[in-house]
Amino acid sequence: MKDVIIACDFSNGAEVLAFLDKFALCARKPFVKIGMELYYGAGPDIVRQIKARGHKIFLDLKLHDIPNTVRKTMKVLAALDVDMTNVHAAGTIDMMRAAVEGLTRADGSRPVLVAVTQLTSTSEDRMQKELLINAGIAQTIAHYASNAKEAGLDGVVCSPLEASIVKEACGKEFVAVTPGIRFADSAADDQRRVTTPAMAREIGSDYIVVGRPITASADPVESYRRCVKEFLNEII
Ligand code: C5P
Repeated sequence: MKDVIIACDFSNGAEVLAFLDKFALCARKPFVKIGMELYYGAGPDIVRQIKARGHKIFLDLKLHDIPNTVRKTMKVLAALDVDMTNVHAAGTIDMMRAAVEGLTRADGSRPVLVAVTQLTSTSEDRMQKELLINAGIAQTIAHYASNAKEAGLDGVVCSPLEASIVKEACGKEFVAVTPGIRFADSAADDQRRVTTPAMAREIGSDYIVVGRPITASADPVESYRRCVKEFLNEII
């Protein structure tokens, strides 16, 4: 199930709700990503409020702790009824398995669970020098993605340019959630390795995560429509 996810990187609940009001007449309810800044600032109630408006939610909290803590925390997030959430693959297979257990509801259902392999802000040089990981970054990403698959996760967050490495290592059903999306005619901001929504579709992304090209646009609804048209081939 492919979709366009809007990264709602606002610092408070009022701002994000005012932003989402603009989509009231849009034919498609955007899938919304809530990150650490908004969650820690506004608390779990903002998740409930956005959910009550009918949006799907990717709660991007990137958990990384001992398995028991991650299991219990995931249980709390599952009760919030989010649609997608994530952990760091660096927490090990045991930690990722604990995340799956905690997230799984009594009826066996659970939100989509993806792992962060290496953050796109981590260069190969720093990974090798500071984290003492001697493999190359592509090999590391493929290996972490395989660990995530072994632990029972649904996919990973990666740059669109890494999606093909992940699909090769884990199969085409393994989900690639990809930020770093820019329109051909817009600024890259602080993102380095970017692709257009149309290119992300070609490369095989399942979900694109788009922030500033929509949130900082003069016409966010029109920019969202453009993403949906390029990535999903749907006119809304
Ligand atoms: O504004 P922009 O489109 O760059 O936002 C991208 C979103 O995806 C932000 O919320 C950012 O934190 C997130 N992200 C990313 N790169 C990663 C993981 C998450 O840009 N590797």
